[in-house]
Amino acid sequence: MNNSRTRAVITGVAGYLPEYILTNEELSRMVDTSDEWIMSRVGIRERHILKTEGEGTSDMAAKAVERLFEKTGTKPEEVDLLVWCGVTPDMPFPATANIIADKTGVRNAFGFDINAACSSFLFSLITVASFVETGRCRKVVLAGAERLTMYVDYTDRATCPLFGDGAAAVLIEPGDGEYGLIDSIARADGAGRKHLHLKAGGSVMPSSIETVIRRQHYIHQEGQAVFKAAVSRMADTSAELMERNGLTSETVSWLIPHQANLRIIDATGSRMGLPKEKVMVNIDKYGNTSSATIPLCLYDFEDRLKKGDNIVIATFGGGWTWGAAYLKWAYDGVRDVSKGLTGGLD
Ligand code: UT7
Repeated sequence: MNNSRTRAVITGVAGYLPEYILTNEELSRMVDTSDEWIMSRVGIRERHILKTEGEGTSDMAAKAVERLFEKTGTKPEEVDLLVWCGVTPDMPFPATANIIADKTGVRNAFGFDINAACSSFLFSLITVASFVETGRCRKVVLAGAERLTMYVDYTDRATCPLFGDGAAAVLIEPGDGEYGLIDSIARADGAGRKHLHLKAGGSVMPSSIETVIRRQHYIHQEGQAVFKAAVSRMADTSAELMERNGLTSETVSWLIPHQANLRIIDATGSRMGLPKEKVMVNIDKYGNTSSATIPLCLYDFEDRLKKGDNIVIATFGGGWTWGAAYLKWAYDGVRDVSKGLTGGLD
Protein backbone atom coordinates (compact mmCIF):
# COMPACT_ATOMS: atom_id res chain seq x y z
CA MET A 1 0.00 0.00 0.00
CA ASN A 2 1.24 3.49 -0.88
CA ASN A 3 1.04 5.75 2.17
CA SER A 4 3.04 8.67 0.77
CA ARG A 5 1.36 12.07 0.60
CA THR A 6 1.73 12.41 -3.15
CA ARG A 7 -0.43 10.12 -5.22
CA ALA A 8 -0.80 9.70 -8.96
CA VAL A 9 -4.19 11.08 -10.01
CA ILE A 10 -6.03 10.62 -13.30
CA THR A 11 -7.12 14.15 -14.26
CA GLY A 12 -8.58 13.53 -17.71
CA VAL A 13 -9.45 10.85 -20.24
CA ALA A 14 -10.18 10.78 -23.97
CA GLY A 15 -10.79 8.08 -26.52
CA TYR A 16 -10.87 7.37 -30.22
CA LEU A 17 -12.54 4.57 -32.17
CA PRO A 18 -11.96 3.96 -35.87
CA GLU A 19 -14.97 4.49 -38.08
CA TYR A 20 -15.60 1.05 -39.54
CA ILE A 21 -17.93 -1.17 -37.47
CA LEU A 22 -17.97 -4.94 -37.99
CA THR A 23 -21.30 -6.33 -36.79
CA ASN A 24 -22.14 -9.89 -35.76
CA GLU A 25 -24.45 -10.01 -38.74
CA GLU A 26 -21.56 -9.29 -41.15
CA LEU A 27 -19.31 -11.76 -39.29
CA SER A 28 -21.90 -14.50 -39.62
CA ARG A 29 -21.61 -14.12 -43.40
CA MET A 30 -17.81 -14.62 -43.14
CA VAL A 31 -17.62 -17.66 -40.81
CA ASP A 32 -20.02 -20.24 -39.36
CA THR A 33 -21.29 -18.20 -36.39
CA SER A 34 -24.34 -16.23 -35.30
CA ASP A 35 -25.32 -13.13 -33.36
CA GLU A 36 -27.08 -15.43 -30.90
CA TRP A 37 -23.89 -17.48 -30.18
CA ILE A 38 -21.63 -14.45 -29.86
CA MET A 39 -24.05 -12.49 -27.66
CA SER A 40 -24.81 -15.40 -25.34
CA ARG A 41 -21.23 -16.76 -25.04
CA VAL A 42 -19.24 -13.51 -25.12
CA GLY A 43 -21.58 -10.48 -25.09
CA ILE A 44 -20.17 -8.66 -28.14
CA ARG A 45 -22.53 -7.10 -30.68
CA GLU A 46 -20.01 -5.16 -32.79
CA ARG A 47 -16.39 -4.02 -32.87
CA HIS A 48 -14.49 -1.17 -34.58
CA ILE A 49 -11.78 -1.89 -37.13
CA LEU A 50 -9.05 0.42 -38.41
CA LYS A 51 -9.22 0.21 -42.20
CA THR A 52 -7.44 3.43 -43.21
CA GLU A 53 -4.51 2.63 -45.48
CA GLY A 54 -1.14 3.56 -43.96
CA GLU A 55 -2.50 4.14 -40.44
CA GLY A 56 -1.64 2.11 -37.36
CA THR A 57 -1.87 2.06 -33.59
CA SER A 58 -0.04 5.38 -33.16
CA ASP A 59 -2.56 7.21 -35.35
CA MET A 60 -5.50 6.12 -33.19
CA ALA A 61 -3.53 6.86 -30.02
CA ALA A 62 -2.48 10.29 -31.32
CA LYS A 63 -6.13 11.22 -31.97
CA ALA A 64 -7.03 10.22 -28.40
CA VAL A 65 -4.06 12.17 -27.00
CA GLU A 66 -4.95 15.29 -29.01
CA ARG A 67 -8.51 15.13 -27.63
CA LEU A 68 -7.06 14.69 -24.14
CA PHE A 69 -4.92 17.82 -24.52
CA GLU A 70 -7.93 19.80 -25.76
CA LYS A 71 -10.21 18.61 -22.95
CA THR A 72 -7.73 19.17 -20.15
CA GLY A 73 -6.13 22.34 -21.52
CA THR A 74 -2.74 20.65 -21.54
CA LYS A 75 0.05 21.95 -23.75
CA PRO A 76 2.09 19.16 -25.39
CA GLU A 77 5.34 20.75 -24.19
CA GLU A 78 4.21 20.42 -20.54
CA VAL A 79 4.17 16.61 -20.73
CA ASP A 80 7.27 14.99 -19.22
CA LEU A 81 6.50 11.30 -19.80
CA LEU A 82 4.44 9.61 -22.53
CA VAL A 83 3.88 5.86 -22.36
CA TRP A 84 2.08 3.68 -24.88
CA CYS A 85 1.02 0.23 -23.76
CA GLY A 86 -0.24 -2.75 -25.72
CA VAL A 87 0.67 -5.62 -28.03
CA THR A 88 0.29 -4.01 -31.46
CA PRO A 89 3.17 -1.53 -31.86
CA ASP A 90 3.51 0.36 -35.13
CA MET A 91 6.77 -1.54 -35.69
CA PRO A 92 9.31 -3.50 -33.56
CA PHE A 93 11.28 -0.29 -33.05
CA PRO A 94 11.30 2.61 -32.40
CA ALA A 95 8.87 2.63 -29.52
CA THR A 96 5.30 3.51 -30.47
CA ALA A 97 5.37 6.04 -27.60
CA ASN A 98 8.00 8.00 -29.52
CA ILE A 99 5.87 8.02 -32.67
CA ILE A 100 2.78 9.17 -30.73
CA ALA A 101 4.86 11.90 -29.08
CA ASP A 102 6.06 13.09 -32.48
CA LYS A 103 2.52 13.12 -33.91
CA THR A 104 1.12 15.08 -30.94
CA GLY A 105 3.92 17.64 -30.53
CA VAL A 106 5.26 16.21 -27.25
CA ARG A 107 8.89 17.36 -27.35
CA ASN A 108 10.06 17.76 -23.73
CA ALA A 109 9.36 14.24 -22.56
CA PHE A 110 10.82 10.78 -22.47
CA GLY A 111 8.73 7.78 -23.38
CA PHE A 112 8.65 4.03 -23.82
CA ASP A 113 6.32 1.10 -24.47
CA ILE A 114 4.94 -1.44 -21.99
CA ASN A 115 3.56 -4.83 -23.03
CA ALA A 116 1.68 -6.92 -20.48
CA ALA A 117 -0.93 -8.19 -22.98
CA CYS A 118 -4.46 -7.39 -21.81
CA SER A 119 -3.12 -6.21 -18.43
CA SER A 120 -0.94 -3.59 -20.15
CA PHE A 121 -2.97 -0.59 -18.99
CA LEU A 122 -3.11 -1.70 -15.36
CA PHE A 123 0.61 -2.56 -15.21
CA SER A 124 1.46 0.74 -16.92
CA LEU A 125 -0.73 2.78 -14.58
CA ILE A 126 1.10 1.26 -11.61
CA THR A 127 4.47 1.89 -13.30
CA VAL A 128 3.91 5.52 -14.26
CA ALA A 129 2.36 6.22 -10.86
CA SER A 130 5.79 5.62 -9.32
CA PHE A 131 7.30 8.36 -11.47
CA VAL A 132 4.61 10.75 -10.25
CA GLU A 133 4.73 9.70 -6.59
CA THR A 134 8.49 10.24 -6.43
CA GLY A 135 8.22 13.68 -8.02
CA ARG A 136 10.17 12.63 -11.13
CA CYS A 137 7.23 13.53 -13.41
CA ARG A 138 4.37 16.01 -13.14
CA LYS A 139 2.35 15.42 -16.33
CA VAL A 140 2.20 11.91 -17.70
CA VAL A 141 0.23 10.71 -20.70
CA LEU A 142 -0.62 7.01 -20.72
CA ALA A 143 -2.17 5.68 -23.93
CA GLY A 144 -3.76 2.25 -24.29
CA ALA A 145 -4.30 1.66 -27.98
CA GLU A 146 -4.47 -1.41 -30.18
CA ARG A 147 -4.89 -2.41 -33.78
CA LEU A 148 -5.67 -5.90 -32.48
CA THR A 149 -7.55 -6.98 -35.59
CA MET A 150 -4.21 -7.22 -37.44
CA TYR A 151 -3.65 -10.45 -35.47
CA VAL A 152 -7.13 -11.84 -36.12
CA ASP A 153 -7.72 -14.78 -38.47
CA TYR A 154 -11.07 -14.06 -40.10
CA THR A 155 -11.41 -17.73 -41.08
CA ASP A 156 -11.28 -18.88 -37.42
CA ARG A 157 -14.70 -18.58 -35.80
CA ALA A 158 -13.29 -19.31 -32.34
CA THR A 159 -11.31 -16.06 -32.23
CA CYS A 160 -12.52 -13.68 -34.95
CA PRO A 161 -15.62 -12.39 -33.11
CA LEU A 162 -13.64 -11.44 -30.02
CA PHE A 163 -11.30 -8.57 -30.84
CA GLY A 164 -11.52 -4.95 -31.94
CA ASP A 165 -9.40 -1.81 -32.46
CA GLY A 166 -9.48 1.38 -30.42
CA ALA A 167 -7.55 3.87 -28.34
CA ALA A 168 -7.85 5.88 -25.14
CA ALA A 169 -5.45 8.01 -23.15
CA VAL A 170 -5.36 9.38 -19.62
CA LEU A 171 -3.52 12.32 -18.10
CA ILE A 172 -1.86 11.56 -14.77
CA GLU A 173 -0.67 14.26 -12.37
CA PRO A 174 0.41 14.47 -8.72
CA GLY A 175 -2.29 14.97 -6.09
CA ASP A 176 -2.09 15.65 -2.36
CA GLY A 177 -2.85 12.11 -1.23
CA GLU A 178 -6.61 11.90 -0.84
CA TYR A 179 -7.33 10.95 -4.47
CA GLY A 180 -5.64 8.81 -7.08
CA LEU A 181 -4.05 5.38 -7.09
CA ILE A 182 -4.36 4.05 -3.54
CA ASP A 183 -3.33 0.40 -3.85
CA SER A 184 -2.69 -2.29 -6.42
CA ILE A 185 -1.88 -5.96 -6.89
CA ALA A 186 -0.14 -7.11 -10.07
CA ARG A 187 1.04 -10.61 -10.95
CA ALA A 188 2.64 -12.39 -13.90
CA ASP A 189 3.10 -16.10 -14.54
CA GLY A 190 4.84 -17.02 -17.79
CA ALA A 191 3.72 -20.64 -17.48
CA GLY A 192 0.37 -19.51 -18.86
CA ARG A 193 1.85 -18.36 -22.17
CA LYS A 194 1.13 -21.62 -23.96
CA HIS A 195 -2.62 -20.97 -23.82
CA LEU A 196 -2.59 -17.48 -25.37
CA HIS A 197 0.14 -16.16 -27.64
CA LEU A 198 1.21 -15.23 -31.13
CA LYS A 199 3.78 -17.69 -32.48
CA ALA A 200 5.63 -15.90 -35.27
CA GLY A 201 7.22 -12.54 -35.90
CA GLY A 202 9.44 -12.47 -32.82
CA SER A 203 13.01 -13.61 -32.22
CA VAL A 204 12.12 -17.27 -31.68
CA MET A 205 10.26 -17.60 -34.97
CA PRO A 206 11.05 -14.69 -37.26
CA SER A 207 8.60 -13.90 -40.03
CA SER A 208 9.02 -15.95 -43.18
CA ILE A 209 6.93 -17.14 -46.09
CA GLU A 210 6.43 -20.39 -44.18
CA THR A 211 5.11 -18.66 -41.04
CA VAL A 212 2.61 -16.78 -43.18
CA ILE A 213 1.50 -19.96 -44.97
CA ARG A 214 1.16 -21.74 -41.60
CA ARG A 215 -1.04 -18.84 -40.36
CA GLN A 216 1.27 -18.28 -37.38
CA HIS A 217 0.85 -14.50 -37.29
CA TYR A 218 -2.60 -14.80 -35.74
CA ILE A 219 -3.72 -15.02 -32.11
CA HIS A 220 -3.54 -18.55 -30.72
CA GLN A 221 -6.02 -18.90 -27.85
CA GLU A 222 -7.24 -21.97 -25.98
CA GLY A 223 -10.48 -20.33 -24.95
CA GLN A 224 -11.57 -22.52 -22.07
CA ALA A 225 -8.16 -22.56 -20.33
CA VAL A 226 -7.98 -18.77 -20.60
CA PHE A 227 -11.57 -18.41 -19.43
CA LYS A 228 -11.01 -20.48 -16.27
CA ALA A 229 -7.78 -18.68 -15.36
CA ALA A 230 -9.34 -15.26 -16.03
CA VAL A 231 -12.40 -15.88 -13.85
CA SER A 232 -10.48 -17.19 -10.85
CA ARG A 233 -7.57 -14.75 -10.93
CA MET A 234 -9.52 -11.57 -11.66
CA ALA A 235 -12.11 -12.39 -9.01
CA ASP A 236 -9.59 -13.53 -6.36
CA THR A 237 -7.35 -10.50 -6.83
CA SER A 238 -10.23 -8.04 -6.74
CA ALA A 239 -11.59 -9.65 -3.56
CA GLU A 240 -8.11 -9.53 -1.94
CA LEU A 241 -7.70 -5.85 -2.86
CA MET A 242 -11.13 -5.00 -1.43
CA GLU A 243 -10.42 -6.84 1.79
CA ARG A 244 -7.05 -5.28 2.49
CA ASN A 245 -8.45 -1.77 1.86
CA GLY A 246 -11.57 -2.32 3.93
CA LEU A 247 -13.80 -1.92 0.87
CA THR A 248 -17.25 -3.50 0.75
CA SER A 249 -19.82 -3.97 -1.99
CA GLU A 250 -21.50 -0.82 -0.60
CA THR A 251 -18.38 1.36 -0.60
CA VAL A 252 -17.08 0.28 -4.01
CA SER A 253 -18.64 2.72 -6.51
CA TRP A 254 -17.44 1.06 -9.71
CA LEU A 255 -15.71 -2.06 -10.98
CA ILE A 256 -13.85 -1.54 -14.25
CA PRO A 257 -13.11 -5.04 -15.52
CA HIS A 258 -11.06 -5.91 -18.60
CA GLN A 259 -13.60 -6.48 -21.38
CA ALA A 260 -12.85 -9.95 -22.78
CA ASN A 261 -16.08 -11.83 -22.11
CA LEU A 262 -19.30 -10.69 -20.42
CA ARG A 263 -19.42 -13.95 -18.47
CA ILE A 264 -15.97 -13.24 -16.97
CA ILE A 265 -17.09 -9.69 -16.14
CA ASP A 266 -20.28 -10.97 -14.46
CA ALA A 267 -18.37 -13.59 -12.46
CA THR A 268 -15.92 -10.97 -11.16
CA GLY A 269 -18.74 -8.57 -10.23
CA SER A 270 -20.65 -11.35 -8.43
CA ARG A 271 -17.58 -12.43 -6.47
CA MET A 272 -17.24 -8.82 -5.26
CA GLY A 273 -20.95 -8.77 -4.37
CA LEU A 274 -21.61 -5.86 -6.73
CA PRO A 275 -24.92 -5.15 -8.43
CA LYS A 276 -24.70 -4.91 -12.24
CA GLU A 277 -25.22 -1.11 -12.13
CA LYS A 278 -21.78 -0.75 -10.52
CA VAL A 279 -19.93 -2.70 -13.21
CA MET A 280 -18.72 -0.86 -16.30
CA VAL A 281 -19.51 -2.78 -19.46
CA ASN A 282 -18.94 -1.68 -23.07
CA ILE A 283 -17.76 -4.98 -24.56
CA ASP A 284 -20.96 -5.07 -26.62
CA LYS A 285 -19.76 -2.02 -28.63
CA TYR A 286 -16.00 -2.59 -28.91
CA GLY A 287 -15.14 -6.23 -28.18
CA ASN A 288 -11.78 -6.95 -26.58
CA THR A 289 -9.39 -4.09 -27.38
CA SER A 290 -6.68 -5.37 -25.01
CA SER A 291 -4.80 -2.39 -23.53
CA ALA A 292 -7.60 0.01 -24.49
CA THR A 293 -10.49 -1.65 -22.63
CA ILE A 294 -9.96 -0.02 -19.23
CA PRO A 295 -9.39 3.58 -20.45
CA LEU A 296 -12.24 3.20 -22.97
CA CYS A 297 -14.53 2.31 -20.05
CA LEU A 298 -13.33 5.43 -18.21
CA TYR A 299 -13.99 7.43 -21.37
CA ASP A 300 -17.50 6.03 -21.91
CA PHE A 301 -18.55 6.33 -18.26
CA GLU A 302 -16.67 9.53 -17.39
CA ASP A 303 -19.84 11.65 -17.08
CA ARG A 304 -21.14 9.26 -14.39
CA LEU A 305 -18.01 9.39 -12.25
CA LYS A 306 -18.08 11.50 -9.11
CA LYS A 307 -15.25 12.94 -7.06
CA GLY A 308 -14.48 10.48 -4.26
CA ASP A 309 -15.82 7.40 -6.07
CA ASN A 310 -14.03 4.20 -5.09
CA ILE A 311 -13.02 2.42 -8.29
CA VAL A 312 -11.58 -1.07 -8.62
CA ILE A 313 -9.87 -1.95 -11.91
CA ALA A 314 -9.42 -5.68 -12.61
CA THR A 315 -7.57 -7.26 -15.53
CA PHE A 316 -6.40 -10.58 -16.89
CA GLY A 317 -4.35 -11.24 -20.00
CA GLY A 318 -1.91 -13.41 -21.88
CA GLY A 319 1.27 -14.18 -20.09
CA TRP A 320 -0.47 -14.87 -17.76
CA THR A 321 -0.74 -11.31 -16.44
CA TRP A 322 -3.38 -10.15 -14.01
CA GLY A 323 -4.12 -7.72 -11.22
CA ALA A 324 -6.34 -5.13 -9.63
CA ALA A 325 -6.03 -1.49 -8.62
CA TYR A 326 -7.94 0.73 -6.22
CA LEU A 327 -8.40 4.37 -7.25
CA LYS A 328 -10.21 7.17 -5.51
CA TRP A 329 -11.61 9.23 -8.39
CA ALA A 330 -10.60 12.90 -8.33
CA TYR A 331 -13.26 14.86 -10.22
CA ASP A 332 -16.91 15.02 -11.25
CA GLY A 333 -17.18 14.07 -14.90
CA VAL A 334 -19.64 16.21 -16.85
CA ARG A 335 -21.11 15.79 -20.30
CA ASP A 336 -20.35 18.72 -22.56
CA VAL A 337 -22.71 18.31 -25.49
CA SER A 338 -20.60 20.42 -27.82
CA LYS A 339 -17.38 18.50 -27.23
CA GLY A 340 -18.51 15.05 -26.12
CA LEU A 341 -17.44 13.77 -22.74
CA THR A 342 -15.32 16.04 -20.64
CA GLY A 343 -14.12 16.49 -17.10
CA GLY A 344 -11.48 18.30 -15.08
CA LEU A 345 -10.08 18.81 -11.61
CA ASP A 346 -11.53 21.67 -9.61
O1 UT7 B 1 -8.24 -10.78 -23.12
C1 UT7 B 1 -7.41 -11.89 -22.90
C2 UT7 B 1 -8.09 -12.92 -22.15
N1 UT7 B 1 -9.02 -13.64 -23.01
C3 UT7 B 1 -10.13 -14.12 -22.48
O2 UT7 B 1 -10.42 -13.86 -21.34
C4 UT7 B 1 -10.99 -15.07 -23.32
C5 UT7 B 1 -11.43 -16.24 -22.46
N2 UT7 B 1 -12.20 -17.23 -23.18
C6 UT7 B 1 -13.47 -17.02 -23.61
O3 UT7 B 1 -13.97 -15.92 -23.49
C7 UT7 B 1 -14.24 -18.17 -24.18
O4 UT7 B 1 -13.59 -19.39 -23.93
C8 UT7 B 1 -14.51 -18.05 -25.70
C9 UT7 B 1 -15.45 -16.89 -25.98
C10 UT7 B 1 -13.19 -17.83 -26.45
C11 UT7 B 1 -15.17 -19.32 -26.23
O5 UT7 B 1 -16.36 -19.59 -25.49
P1 UT7 B 1 -16.59 -21.04 -24.86
O6 UT7 B 1 -17.90 -21.00 -24.21
O7 UT7 B 1 -15.41 -21.37 -24.03
O8 UT7 B 1 -16.70 -21.93 -26.15
P2 UT7 B 1 -15.83 -23.21 -26.53
O9 UT7 B 1 -14.51 -22.80 -27.08
O10 UT7 B 1 -15.87 -24.21 -25.44
O11 UT7 B 1 -16.71 -23.79 -27.72
C12 UT7 B 1 -18.04 -24.30 -27.48
C13 UT7 B 1 -18.66 -24.66 -28.81
C14 UT7 B 1 -17.76 -25.52 -29.70
O12 UT7 B 1 -18.57 -26.41 -30.42
P3 UT7 B 1 -18.75 -27.96 -29.97
O13 UT7 B 1 -17.34 -28.51 -29.98
O14 UT7 B 1 -19.32 -27.88 -28.59
O15 UT7 B 1 -19.64 -28.49 -30.99
C15 UT7 B 1 -17.15 -24.52 -30.64
O16 UT7 B 1 -16.78 -25.11 -31.87
O17 UT7 B 1 -18.92 -23.46 -29.56
C16 UT7 B 1 -18.31 -23.56 -30.84
N3 UT7 B 1 -17.90 -22.24 -31.26
C17 UT7 B 1 -18.70 -21.43 -31.95
N4 UT7 B 1 -19.95 -21.57 -32.42
C18 UT7 B 1 -20.50 -20.53 -33.08
C19 UT7 B 1 -16.73 -21.61 -31.01
N5 UT7 B 1 -16.75 -20.39 -31.55
C20 UT7 B 1 -17.96 -20.24 -32.14
C21 UT7 B 1 -18.57 -19.20 -32.85
N6 UT7 B 1 -19.83 -19.39 -33.30
N7 UT7 B 1 -17.95 -18.02 -33.09
